[in-house]
Amino acid sequence: MKINDEEMKSRIRELRGKSNAVILAHNYQLAEAQEVADFVGDSLQLSIEASKTDADVILFCGVRFMAETAYILSPDKMVLLPSLRSGCPMADMAEPEELAALKSEHPEAIVVAYVNTSAEIKALSDICVTSSNAVAIVRSIPAEKEIIFVPDRNLGAYVARETGRKLVLWDGFCPTHLRISADDIKLARRLHSEAKVIVHPESTLDVIDLADEVLSTGGMLKFAGKTDADEIVVATEIGMLFRLCAENPDKRFYPATEQAVCPNMKHNRLEDILEALERMRHSITVPENIRGKALTAIERMLDFQ
Ligand code: 13P
Ligand code: SF4
Repeated sequence: MKINDEEMKSRIRELRGKSNAVILAHNYQLAEAQEVADFVGDSLQLSIEASKTDADVILFCGVRFMAETAYILSPDKMVLLPSLRSGCPMADMAEPEELAALKSEHPEAIVVAYVNTSAEIKALSDICVTSSNAVAIVRSIPAEKEIIFVPDRNLGAYVARETGRKLVLWDGFCPTHLRISADDIKLARRLHSEAKVIVHPESTLDVIDLADEVLSTGGMLKFAGKTDADEIVVATEIGMLFRLCAENPDKRFYPATEQAVCPNMKHNRLEDILEALERMRHSITVPENIRGKALTAIERMLDFQ
């Protein structure tokens, strides 16, 4: 028998309590997933939450690398990803064999991995970063050290420019942020001349150059909460608009483009979340030999905060 959304939500809450589960959701997730979550945040905030929870089960409404990161930090918990279709094309652009080959060309280099990578790539890296701490972490690496930055060439280019460091950049990118163009921002500025423009650093540099602020998704929420501006143009995945609008009902938010949709972030529907809790599926794990090394890279990032 098919049940409606409200019934599904109350069943999810009931099962969450029975199985001592916590539901974590990324800011790009569907509104329905954010509504049943205990905590909604950016990649860094979600990693911190996953590392400190005392729940037995972490149900992760996000993409696979986020659930893997949660497992790496909390291997004694069951980590569930409601839909196995939730991958990240940018994370898939970095293969361990290719990174190993690049490392052998730069044997002295520090490898800085964006968290949007597989556990295998993290295990080959020295330290992880997210969009909210990449600049500060790269800045903290001694100036004489060579740095390989994997996999986002756009975040990497931005970090290189902000820090004045020359980075060996991987050629990966986020297909969703690639859909946001400088022309989109110019048009949005013409249409909303009073608006502030906030841009995610997975965007290309020509888009970043037109921003008032370059921010992680968590940074965008903080900025929206404290700015005097009544109107904000948002250059990132459009799922971001849900929380921005919900938390700031007196402000107006405009997506830089409606095309910036990450289909991978939209697979965790209420049906999937309910089924995940009913059947305790799909459990995400990482082999112990990889987890240990990946944990070192993630913990170095968390210790940096
Ligand atoms: P943040 O939420 O850390 O800004 O990252 C965005 C992202 O690409 C998640 O896939
Ligand atoms: Fe990956 Fe980009 Fe989607 Fe984030 S928005 S999950 S980086 S494809």
